[in-house]
Amino acid sequence: EKDGHDWFMRKEIHEQPRAVADSLLGRRTPEGHLHLDEMRLSDQELRDVDKVIIIACGTSFYAGMVAKYAIEHWTRVPVEVELASEFRYRDPILDYSTLVVAISQSGETADTLQAIRHARTQRSKVLAICNTNGSTIPRESDAVIYTHAGPEIGVASTKGFLTQLVACYLLALYLAQVKGTRYGDEIDQVMQQLEAIPEQVQRVLDDASSIYAMAADHVDTRSVLFLGRHAGYPVALEGALKLKELAYIHAEGFAAGELKHGPIALIEEGLPVLCVVPPAGRDQLRDKMVSGIQEVRARGARTICLVEDGDDAITPYADVIIRLPRVPVLLQPLVAVVPLQLFACELATQMGHDVDQPRNLAKSVTVE
Ligand code: F6R
Repeated sequence: EKDGHDWFMRKEIHEQPRAVADSLLGRRTPEGHLHLDEMRLSDQELRDVDKVIIIACGTSFYAGMVAKYAIEHWTRVPVEVELASEFRYRDPILDYSTLVVAISQSGETADTLQAIRHARTQRSKVLAICNTNGSTIPRESDAVIYTHAGPEIGVASTKGFLTQLVACYLLALYLAQVKGTRYGDEIDQVMQQLEAIPEQVQRVLDDASSIYAMAADHVDTRSVLFLGRHAGYPVALEGALKLKELAYIHAEGFAAGELKHGPIALIEEGLPVLCVVPPAGRDQLRDKMVSGIQEVRARGARTICLVEDGDDAITPYADVIIRLPRVPVLLQPLVAVVPLQLFACELATQMGHDVDQPRNLAKSVTVE
């Protein structure tokens, strides 16, 4: 049942190329238009959307953070991302032109369910991104994008997350198509980039041995920091969450630009700092990340850098380099999170923990 793997989680990490491919399947018509089968909201309803609010918990919330970057970039519609457990209690401003997007792998998370019920009382449209057919959240939503990860059994979400990201990109592109904010050939180009992801994720998986070796060096570690920027920031948060859940290590993710506003005080000799380096681009995000890496290293941190293939300028500042396939910055989470999943799974294994059933956690949280 675990396909020769020691844990469901490891099996599910290795299923990701297929899960991503399945989640992309059948989304384009022969004419090249995007088509989402359970969209159920009319083009006019979507054109009327002037604000998107994404609600989710845990790992699904981090997928929502990535979605914000994608939706705002491609559609120019403002997006808020909110923890489902906080949403109802701040009297959110909602009306019929607000699209509420609930992201939930299980479709049963109580906080997320209560949040969509509240949104519907305010006449907002609710779209669910969900991996579980017929579960409560999609049943109570106006529209659904199902992810096709297959059942996720390990408590820590892995293929659930990657396929949520795919669904978020599809939603962003679909909105752009309907609203006319992007041309068809640009949407087509992103779809082709997405269709290349399964093979690129497979390459990351084939390289796992270096990550396993790195895990062996960290079995006595008590604290790890993760840094990212732009779409790499939620990846840093997700990497830290995986380590907390599975290895019970204190781990925190930061937006690298925030370092000097406080977190840099945490840096001490030998502290491992995992850095998700954005691909080189016009906006100098990468260069700013590199200077952050230099700063923490000058203060004694052990820098472990996830960098795109061919970016060699980072070498002098990295104690360990993990190479990522070259993808656009918005899609980078799809490849960058995989080494962090492998790292947490392997480190927890080497520490002797039960990876599939971490202490104190349940697969779906059906109480508030
Ligand atoms: C992390 C994890 C949790 C879930 C969260 C939301 O590995 O599994 O943080 O992501 O409980 O669950 P869903 O997506 O089922 O609503």
